[in-house]
Amino acid sequence: MKQSDSNGETESATPRPIKEGKIERREVLQGLSSLPTLGLFGYSLCRQAAYEDAQDRQRQPTSEPTARRPAIQVALLGAGAQGEVLLNSMLRIPGLYVRAVCDIWTEYNLKRTVNTLKKYKIEANGYEDYREMLEREKDLEAVVVATPDFWHARHTIDCLRAGKHVYCEKEMSNSLEDAGQMVLAARETGRLLQIGHQRRSHPRYQHCYRKLLREANLLGRIVTAYGQWNRSVKPDQGWPKRYAIPEERLKQYGYPSMAHFRNWRWYKGMGGGPIVDLGSHQIDIFNWFLGSPPDYVTASGGTDYYDPKTHEWYDTVMAIYEYSTPAGKARAYYQTQTTNGSQGYFETFMGDQGTLVLSESEAAYSGAIYREVSAPAWDEWVRRGYITGPKVQTVRQDSQIPLDVRESVSPDEHRIPVHLTVPYHQSHLENFFQSIRGEARLNCPAETGYETAVTVLKVNEAVEAHRRLSFRPGDFRVPS
Ligand SMILES: NC(=O)c1ccc[n+]([C@@H]2O[C@H](COP(=O)([O-])OP(=O)(O)OC[C@H]3O[C@@H](n4cnc5c(N)ncnc54)[C@H](O)[C@@H]3O)[C@@H](O)[C@H]2O)c1
Repeated sequence: MKQSDSNGETESATPRPIKEGKIERREVLQGLSSLPTLGLFGYSLCRQAAYEDAQDRQRQPTSEPTARRPAIQVALLGAGAQGEVLLNSMLRIPGLYVRAVCDIWTEYNLKRTVNTLKKYKIEANGYEDYREMLEREKDLEAVVVATPDFWHARHTIDCLRAGKHVYCEKEMSNSLEDAGQMVLAARETGRLLQIGHQRRSHPRYQHCYRKLLREANLLGRIVTAYGQWNRSVKPDQGWPKRYAIPEERLKQYGYPSMAHFRNWRWYKGMGGGPIVDLGSHQIDIFNWFLGSPPDYVTASGGTDYYDPKTHEWYDTVMAIYEYSTPAGKARAYYQTQTTNGSQGYFETFMGDQGTLVLSESEAAYSGAIYREVSAPAWDEWVRRGYITGPKVQTVRQDSQIPLDVRESVSPDEHRIPVHLTVPYHQSHLENFFQSIRGEARLNCPAETGYETAVTVLKVNEAVEAHRRLSFRPGDFRVPS
């Protein structure tokens, strides 16, 4: 897929090269054609339940300032599927006021979101053009960006330069050059930039990293890791025909058609395919838990199932990373495939003393650790509550076949007693807003998001190259 700036279409709002700098007033005026105010229109009933649930469980209305500090005024830029999920979490966080929402799908996602907020007495202004929003909403302190990946850099950099703190969804960008510019913009402006790898703030991941790996060293020397995200076949995203965005307007934003607009993940120049969309979350955990980025990557992949005309990025990818960790060499295998959902998504870390299996999902693999039979007892860690007592694996009594020497004795299973009690993204958003208040440090600052983007985007290159590719240590840092 070519971006609109290479197809000769008008490019008033298409991502321009990031280095160009500040927003021109002329560009802001061009964007004023859109709709800052919106009428009531209630076609979002099916999504209502989530908001009502959020409202019920809210500890304090988002519109109310806390005792210590006035409410943080925040805007949502990109009110699609993920924007809605993030908003649902923001509604539960005390001390926020959702002041504005921006989305180019004005007749559908924008209206839905603004109208839903109204029902909770939150008067958010709606915008089509984010530049107009930045121009008008002087009191905004933060912007949450949940637009498609190829817009992240432009949106984030312009918001940072307008003096806002930014929470930007992963993948930081589909272009490393642009991701680097995002890091530089955060440094130059001194504003906070959190990247949406939400597992970094997940209490179970934090517990496993800090307590089980670093403090108790329960796995010993980690030599191998494995991660997967397997997904069943899914039809392409459709859209209600009466709310289709006119083609001319779509092209202004870099989308050749509604099909591209709705299925941007699969197109080159817009997203990065499943390895980036899904894999980036878990490959980020490889780097975090192994304590370093990798040296090499080898990968195989292709569009094996779907039509390559509509699925330019690979539907199936298998990648092997090689690490030089502080403890020694390690290898990590990652696979994502989108034609069979077998065993869902999880990560496994295997050391000479034990195995850790964890997932963001509460439904499956919510966290277990297995002690190698030769490892020292874990009684102390059970006593301290770091892990539960062992569930002893029993040998099947009904089997007529005697065990022989080839069989390994199954290790005991201990559970990780830390569970999420809030929606998946809430802790990461809370960490962002607490950091704005000076009460925390970002769990996934721009530099970390960049390191992950370098690690992940290289897989697509390795698929193309059909050979092992190396990373140089300097690749993971953005020079000042
Ligand atoms: N952290 C996570 O677990 C997670 C999960 C899903 C998606 N995401 C990320 O969130 C982002 C959005 O994904 P999604 O699934 O919501 O996509 P989506 O297509 O459902 O939503 C994107 C929204 O952005 C709007 N938009 C597109 N271009 C725009 C522009 N130039 N200006 C303003 N609005 C624009 C669209 O109208 C749409 O409402 C992506 O970066 C994706 O990778 C993260």
